[in-house]
Amino acid sequence: MRISPIQNTKLQNNIGTKSLNTNNNKEKSQNPAPSRTFKFPPQGVYTPAFLGLMRIGENLKPATSFFFRDYEALMSATNMLRENFPNGATILDYGCSDGEEALSLYMLLGDDKKKFKITGIDTDEDIIRIANQGVYSIYRGSADRFLMPNMIKDPTQEELAETFHKTMKHAKEPDEPLNNSPKFYLTYNRMSPKSRKQLFYRPRSGVLDNIEYKTGNICNLDREQTEGKIGAILFRNAFYQLMNSSDGEDLFIDDDMSKIAEKYKDILASKEGGKELIELLFTRTSVEEKQAIADEIIDKAYGRLEIGGVFVLGNSENESIFFADDDTPDEDVVRFGDIPAVKERKQLLEETLNRDYSAEEADFPGLMELVLAPVKKELEGLIKRREDIRILKKTPMQKALERDGRFTPAYTSSVSNMPGFETPTVWVKVK
Ligand SMILES: C[S@@+](CC[C@H](N)C(=O)[O-])C[C@H]1O[C@@H](n2cnc3c(N)ncnc32)[C@H](O)[C@@H]1O
Repeated sequence: MRISPIQNTKLQNNIGTKSLNTNNNKEKSQNPAPSRTFKFPPQGVYTPAFLGLMRIGENLKPATSFFFRDYEALMSATNMLRENFPNGATILDYGCSDGEEALSLYMLLGDDKKKFKITGIDTDEDIIRIANQGVYSIYRGSADRFLMPNMIKDPTQEELAETFHKTMKHAKEPDEPLNNSPKFYLTYNRMSPKSRKQLFYRPRSGVLDNIEYKTGNICNLDREQTEGKIGAILFRNAFYQLMNSSDGEDLFIDDDMSKIAEKYKDILASKEGGKELIELLFTRTSVEEKQAIADEIIDKAYGRLEIGGVFVLGNSENESIFFADDDTPDEDVVRFGDIPAVKERKQLLEETLNRDYSAEEADFPGLMELVLAPVKKELEGLIKRREDIRILKKTPMQKALERDGRFTPAYTSSVSNMPGFETPTVWVKVK
């Protein structure tokens, strides 16, 4: 069965939202998705207590973005664009969020930046309003903190920081809210009004001449009006939202959290927006449906891209790790415990636990038990209990991109939060 993302009401309604599938509800559902329009975050539910409860804090924010996120992949994509399109091309940045990705692309295009036109497109009107406001913050709690002065950097980050400050300048604090995580306010609230000014940046004049933002949906990629050749399509860290999937993240939500979520289900359901959230939290989309979604989007991307053009995916664990269904054939599956990175991690944790700590014990009786508790927890909770989870060898996007040899991988990124895991993120259209 092929499901059209455009006809599928679930997809239209779920866009811009994110699910958390809990481990104790992995069965396939006949009607796997909520059918109502669901605006995230719902009033009343998105409270600090709720975020604490789910222990996934800012990951629940569906529009999270950073400057130069997975910059190695962006550098690979922009280098290829400069080489394959010496006269420039159009870049469609789907799931652009507040524009940090579009600006990062612009900066990484170097001397050729003015030859390219970047269109940032997102389903979320609020985030497009923030993108058009064009004011950003960088702060200690964020992944792009290396852009701040006096933060330890490697030479590449040093260069990126220099480019950033040549392109952006300090801005007045905006009246409208920014796309910031709760962590931002920890920094903000501790600063004096005078020093808060240092947090805000906006593009220098002329930068936005080549960048535009608008609302739109990647499901309508085939109908997107564009001028000139399309050299790149990005849809990074957003496929998992379209697919209502968070399997990679589930690996880190231990069973106790699932029990807590189950226990507080009724209270959540009584809050405004809570019922819809519960449906998302406890709903699973089948692998077949996810594959159909990936196939349809990649078919459309193939139809729009020039040969030599690139399709870029994100490296978040949500879009890199997919659980198999019970009926997924064994040849498509790898046991979590058999993945080399997991085996290595397990060995390291076991060695750490089994080392001889008698000298430390003699000096500080009982100390090592406390120090090693997190190691034990990771080994027992995150590795041993998950060893038998069946993971797809290839993501639905990877399968769709490889089909008929239309795209080949050009850059492989490390998966965020999953040491040792890799995922191909930059793909070139070769025929
Ligand atoms: C987690 S953010 C990622 C932002 C940015 N691409 C990055 O990687 O930093 C995902 C964004 O994709 C948007 N989005 C989700 N589904 C979409 C779709 N079908 N078409 C366009 N944008 C979508 C969301 O509204 C959100 O702003």
